[in-house]
Parts: sequence; C-alpha cells; structure tokens
Amino acid sequence: MKRLFRGGTVVSGSAAFRADVLTEGEKIIRVAPEIEESADEVVDCSGKLLLPGFIDAHTHFDLDVCNTTTADDFYSGSRAALRGGTTTVIDFACPNKGESLGYGLELWHKKAEKCQCDYGFHMTIDDWNESIEAELDDMFAAGIPTFKMYMTYPAMMIGDGPMYEAMKAIHARGGLCGVHCENSGVIDSLVAEKKAAGENSVCCHPETRPDYLEAEAVSRLLRIAQAADSPIIIVHTTNAAAMEEVAHARDRGQTVYVETCPQYLTLDKSCYYQEDWLESAKYVCSPPLRTEYDQAVLWQGLRDGAVQTVSTDHCSFTTAQKLAGKDSFTAIPGGMPGVETRGEVVYTAGVASGRIDLPTFVRALSENPARLYGLYPRKGVLAAGSDADIVIYDPAADHVLTAEGTASKCDYSPYEGFKTVGSIEQVYLRNALAVNHGAVQETQGIYLKRGASTL
Ligand code: URP
Ligand code: ZN
Ligand code: ZN
Repeated sequence: MKRLFRGGTVVSGSAAFRADVLTEGEKIIRVAPEIEESADEVVDCSGKLLLPGFIDAHTHFDLDVCNTTTADDFYSGSRAALRGGTTTVIDFACPNKGESLGYGLELWHKKAEKCQCDYGFHMTIDDWNESIEAELDDMFAAGIPTFKMYMTYPAMMIGDGPMYEAMKAIHARGGLCGVHCENSGVIDSLVAEKKAAGENSVCCHPETRPDYLEAEAVSRLLRIAQAADSPIIIVHTTNAAAMEEVAHARDRGQTVYVETCPQYLTLDKSCYYQEDWLESAKYVCSPPLRTEYDQAVLWQGLRDGAVQTVSTDHCSFTTAQKLAGKDSFTAIPGGMPGVETRGEVVYTAGVASGRIDLPTFVRALSENPARLYGLYPRKGVLAAGSDADIVIYDPAADHVLTAEGTASKCDYSPYEGFKTVGSIEQVYLRNALAVNHGAVQETQGIYLKRGASTL
C-alpha cells in the first residue's frame, strides 16, 4: 500500500522544510518537495507538520513498585504513547535483586506481548556479581545495550563500587549506563527527621529530596564515570545545580548525556503545597519537581545542546493508589503519567512559546533518542528507508488537556486544564494508522533489537 503525505512541513533534527512523503509497506520510500507519483491514499497535510514518530526512552509499564503495580500495563501504556505521538518506547526491564537478567528479560517480553507501539528494553542492574556480569553478553545479543542503575531506593541501588565495576564492564562491551541520581543516605536522614518531628504533609517529599542532593549524586556519578573512563547518561535531570556538575565534567573532557522530562520543564514545586492532599500527591515523583529557575536552565540546555533528550519517566498510579500514602508521605507511590501528553506539552511550552525551535523539538523527542539508543536511522527521522512512523501535528488545533477520554488507565492528568497550542491529528506506526483525531486503533508493536549509540 502506497500512501502519499502531501503538502506538509517535514521537520528533522536540523531543519523544517516543505516536502511530500511517500510510503510503501512499512517504510518511507521518498521525501521530496513535490511527489507526483500515484498512491493508494493521499493524506492532505497542508498547514500541518510532519514529525518523525516520537521515541520515549523512559517508561515504566507494568512495574511492581511501592507495594503496588503501575496503573498502565503495556497495552494501556502503549495506547497512551501512540495517542501522544510516541511510536517507540524503551521500557525498563526490572528483575528484582537476586533474580537473573535473563529472567527479567523473559518477564518483560511476556508483559510486552500486548504492546501496541514498537518497543525496546533497557535492563536494570540492581545487583552486581559474577553471574550478572556473565549475562551481559546475552543482553547485548538480545539487543539491549543500555542499562539503568540507581543511586537511591534500597531495593534497587547497588552502591558506588559495584556501580563503577558495572559501568566498566558495560562500557567495555560498547554499552551505556543511565543512572538515577539522588543521595540516598542523606535523604533517609532527612526523612527520619521529618518523621521524628511528626510532619507528614506531601511537601515533606520535595523537602527531603532537595536539588543539591540530586546534584551531589550527579557529581559523584560523574567522578565514578571518570574513573571507569565511560560515557554516561543522567536520566530525569531536574535542576540547575545538577546541570552545573554536568558542565564541569564536560569541561574535563567527559561524555555526558542528559535526559529531562516534560514535568521538570513545565511544573514546579508549588504543586506539592496545594491545600488538597490528593492534588499534591498526584505530583509525587523522584526526583521531585523543582523551581521555575530550574525549568529555565533546562530549556536553555535544550537550546544549547547541554540536554539531549526529553523522555517522560511515565510511571502512572491512580488516585486510589496515591491514597495509600495518606498516613505516611514515604508511602505515596512515586511517579506520574506523561507518555500521552509529552508531544503537545513540549510543543506548546517549548516551540509555540518561543523557547525552542522545531528542529530542537524533533531532536529532543525523536532524533537524539534514536541516535543515543541505537535506533537511528530506522527511527527518529523521516527519510527514505526509515520506518514510516509519522506524526501529523496541526499547529492550529488548540485544545485543553484533561484526563477524560485518555488511553492511560491513570484517572488524572498532571496537566488538567493545560491549553495546548495545536494537536496531534494523526499517528502512523510503520505506515499503519494508529491514531486518528484522538481515536486509537488496534495495532501491534514489535520488539526492536537495538545497537550501539551513534549520538
Ligand atoms: O518517581 C519516579 N520517577 N518513579 C519512577 C522510577 C524512577 O525513579 O525512574
Ligand atoms: Zn529514576
Ligand atoms: Zn524512571
């Protein structure tokens, strides 16, 4: 089946230009100013933007965590992703401590069988020993060259020495580590102080996880990466102090990739100080939301290339699940939905507000994640030979975000009432219509074996 997308503005990571896009089967076969060739279907794209399907390199679907399971599994999560223009997710396979990587991978393949968009996995390293190291080659062979480690959460963290060893072993095989940076020990002490003082409001969450304890962990991680002589990815970066540490490491000659998320670009810590407990709890995530100044530094980072990617850290819990933390702020499940709203929120707050230009938007949501996570040029660009993952964005179709009618199983939106500039009109997954004016069609995602980073 040949489909011609006619009359739109194609956006790449370096330019926005008038072009038609011709697809056949699952692929793009031509991108050119005027394509005269006949097609089975012509999609009128005049006045619209044609964007490469977004890649969300940071989702948590069907994750058992905080004594519960995330609201979104791979079915609802991937439908939410598609509705938000995301045609590929990279989720974190997460074996528990004591379980093998192979077991975790098998489990995640099972969970993802119902995934509607294309998907890959990062592997979580929450244990480090000879048998885990012996499994690394199998992970690379399975198309998993990226690994996540935690500097917080007792159930997940492995400590500085093992992190150094894991980083070295992974780098030696051509892989990359992404790390959650927060100083666990001091956070625990701050939490104990709050509890001893009888404080339990939601704002205890950000107050016990301040920006400088994230920056400390970033700084320590970067020195560990220096010792391991390894490039590194800092995931869900939230603040200016952390970005300063990144700048120092880059000045020393280190290769550091920075991911941030829409919530850190657009929401601030006042969300935790609302009168209504549940309204505040909806925004509990780690690291927490910061200040408008931190947002400005992250936008600046996107403009000047200090920040490479905007993923979501989609980790959704319903309001009923959030209520489990009513009597203890540390029991509020940490995480927010985001996969369905990323494109429109970042377009509105970024492109339409003049903070970033269109190519920067496409670099952050499509091209850079494709390059960094070994999917480029199959994904991340509208070019001959690439998968026909296409988002048609109508910059004139403003609307208001709401939880009603979303594909996610989360019953609230952190962006309730947010006025978008424009809308995602249609989404194509390998040339199959996956979303039409908000209506998500049944599609079937495929597992993507990923290669080495090319960013
Ligand atoms: O609070 C968050 N971000 N939960 C998801 C897990 C993580 O730390 O990435
Ligand atoms: Zn994390
Ligand atoms: Zn995460």
